[in-house]
Amino acid sequence: MSDLVQVSKDGEIGILTVNNPPVNALSPGVPEGILEGVEQFEKDDSVKAIVLIGGGRTFIAGADIREFGKITAGGDQRRGPGFNAILNRVENASKPVVAAIHGTALGGGLETAMACHYRVAVPSAQVGQPEVKLGIIPGAGGTQRLPRLAGIQKAVEMCAGGDPISAGEALKYGIVDKIIEGDLLAGAVSFAREKAGSPPRRTRDLTDKLGTAEANGPIFAAACDATKKRQRNLVAPLAAIDAVEAATQLPFDKGIERERELFQQCLFSDQSKALIHVFFGEREVAKIPGISKDTAQIPVGQAAVVGAGTMGGGIAMVFANAGIPVLLKETDQAALDRGLATIKKNYANSVAKGRFTQQQMDERMARITPTLTYDGFGDRDMVIEAVFEGMALKKQIFGELDKVMKPGAILASNTSTLNIDEIASATTRPEMVIGTHFFSPANVMRLLELVRGKATSKEVIATCMSLSKKLGKVGVLVGNCRGFVGNRMFHPYRREAQFLVEEGASVEAVDQALYHFGMAMGPLATGDLAGLDVGWRIRKEFGDARNTTVRQPLIEDRLCEEGHYGQKTKSGWYKYDENRKPLHSEDADRIIAQARKDANIQQRSISSDEIVERIIYSLVNEGARILEEGIALRAVDIDIIYLNGYGFPAYRGGPMWYADTVGLKKVCERVLDFEKQHGATWAPAPLLKRLAEEGKTFADFDKQVAQGAAAAEARS
Ligand code: 3HC
Ligand code: NAI
Repeated sequence: MSDLVQVSKDGEIGILTVNNPPVNALSPGVPEGILEGVEQFEKDDSVKAIVLIGGGRTFIAGADIREFGKITAGGDQRRGPGFNAILNRVENASKPVVAAIHGTALGGGLETAMACHYRVAVPSAQVGQPEVKLGIIPGAGGTQRLPRLAGIQKAVEMCAGGDPISAGEALKYGIVDKIIEGDLLAGAVSFAREKAGSPPRRTRDLTDKLGTAEANGPIFAAACDATKKRQRNLVAPLAAIDAVEAATQLPFDKGIERERELFQQCLFSDQSKALIHVFFGEREVAKIPGISKDTAQIPVGQAAVVGAGTMGGGIAMVFANAGIPVLLKETDQAALDRGLATIKKNYANSVAKGRFTQQQMDERMARITPTLTYDGFGDRDMVIEAVFEGMALKKQIFGELDKVMKPGAILASNTSTLNIDEIASATTRPEMVIGTHFFSPANVMRLLELVRGKATSKEVIATCMSLSKKLGKVGVLVGNCRGFVGNRMFHPYRREAQFLVEEGASVEAVDQALYHFGMAMGPLATGDLAGLDVGWRIRKEFGDARNTTVRQPLIEDRLCEEGHYGQKTKSGWYKYDENRKPLHSEDADRIIAQARKDANIQQRSISSDEIVERIIYSLVNEGARILEEGIALRAVDIDIIYLNGYGFPAYRGGPMWYADTVGLKKVCERVLDFEKQHGATWAPAPLLKRLAEEGKTFADFDKQVAQGAAAAEARS
């Protein structure tokens, strides 16, 4: 019997417990162990029904994603009967099998549960078919059994959308048969006793929820339309809809075959490889070489925020949403009132949209205590400063915080550009200082760059990494340099977009090319959204410090000089109607034409491929420099930053992963072409050149980092 599945008995009920920590994934041995257990109990006359339960923190969280890379087009050759065959065998068992669900039953986990004859769950359990988030579709009957239990509408929603549902909702839709309050195993055993002796109810035989062609047609059509909008360019969600449709048109076994075909097509796609890279990447970034899991952490039970502007207000909401009470300090009552009014408005919008209830809003508001003084700061475990971006002001605030905060409290700054070490120098405890760079709107955006200063302690870093997760953010540790990782790379990205317009591309052509590539928004439209005047004001202030030996973009300064700041003035690269719809701008045309003429820039026609290459490779080249300087720990860290903070399409895996898929040799050759055509800003990063010459990838670079970290850990 497999070690991964334990067999025991409670009277006439046989119990199978899956023990494959941490999440009971269906690694080789688990499905086989379940089958062996079922067969053993079938032969045992004293057993009348069977319970399948997960040991540890969860039921089965799905197929073992690490195994996907080993599957070849001919199937998983290393294994005996396929997973589908095993589930069919479980479903065909002669004695009732009850799945007992806690934690999550996801993907292959829910498919296993649906191949059982009944399902019971604790109230906190969740079930789902999240495969599309990995670029695949359910591959073990999910698209065939789920519609039989839950109906077409719900099955399409779950298989194409990928979000899990609660046990309560699963009960409502017939996916779960009973909610067990109290001890799950005891409840499942007594449920199994009720079913003992009765013939098993096989999901494959249920047909009454499969609907009619007339009723289903509009459901599938609407789902395809919605998917094309919400999951733009993604292949798997449409394949999932196809597979569910097959359940309504084909007998069960044929439906399974169709699902298998679609599953394989998706599994071998670039999208799936990229999304799996993202899944593991999001977990990898939490692992910091030199900081072990046992590093002591500072409990953050209460926090404080200084500054209730755009960012401070959002950050206070993030803490309140996570159940952490927060003091919110401003300089005067009017600013405090404004900040609170914005928070209230944002929460009220969420209530209006049904994201949470009025009571939840009231609870969240009650966790935010407005103040004009530092009273109470001395009790707080952490403070985040989010005042205007100016070194003198930040240093003054950190000097004050040093006096009022208790020893051991974390002092964080939300600065987006300033040197965290200089800020820390205003305190007597630079080891407690860290940058926590939230992105706007802070309560929405998942990215949190954690900026490590020279002195920042391991405890502070470890605490902020795990706090990120608690706050619903993806924390990525970055080094201290101007713009850190995300904004530093964004600079060449936006610069190239502007150069392309100067050279003859239209504003729309540049944005469309990047939108079709998959970016949430084109780079010029993004500038309009953020406000073109922000950079303009900085350039005016620091104008003399700009490098005049390299080409600088011309048009945004001219747009700003004429008051076209972007969406806030309803005019920038585009003009905007009252619904903020971007329209072609004649003012921008005139300014662009004049700038081209004044600088004597040769006009040419530029293909959308070149637009994408120029803009995306500028990201990659800067990313390679950042890696080499150690500002980002791994290429995957850069990918996760770009996916969560800058609207890079997840199905391309992030800029560095994308470059790997193009091939670094090819990327480097184009960068060298661009250097010839456009000068020094395009000098290839030495790391990019080296990897290209060695025929390696950024993923290889990451492997080396991981090996180095493992070796260092072994030595310590
Ligand atoms: N396969 C392999 N490893 C997995 C895994 C899986 N399905 N699910 C989680 N893990 C690993 C994680 O990589 C992580 O490893 P690490 O500690 O080395 O970084 C560890 O398990 C713990 O995971 P989390 O940190 O994510 O733990 P959480 O408690 O925050 O979340 C979870 C648990 C909700 C189960 C989350 O891990 C999750 O969503 N997992 C993926 C579920 C999924 O996508 N299932 C479908 C798989 S595809 C499939 O089943 C195909 C089928 O149709 C044939
Ligand atoms: P903001 O101008 O909206 O808000 C700053 C607030 O700080 C104002 O309400 C001001 O009254 C208050 N303030 C100034 N001095 C104070 C003091 N001594 N005590 C308490 N409050 C004080 O600025 P925003 O946009 O929120 O930026 C704040 C910080 O976040 C800056 O460092 C900025 O670089 C950074 N940031 C901004 C992002 C954005 O998109 N706006 C994104 C990421 C970081």
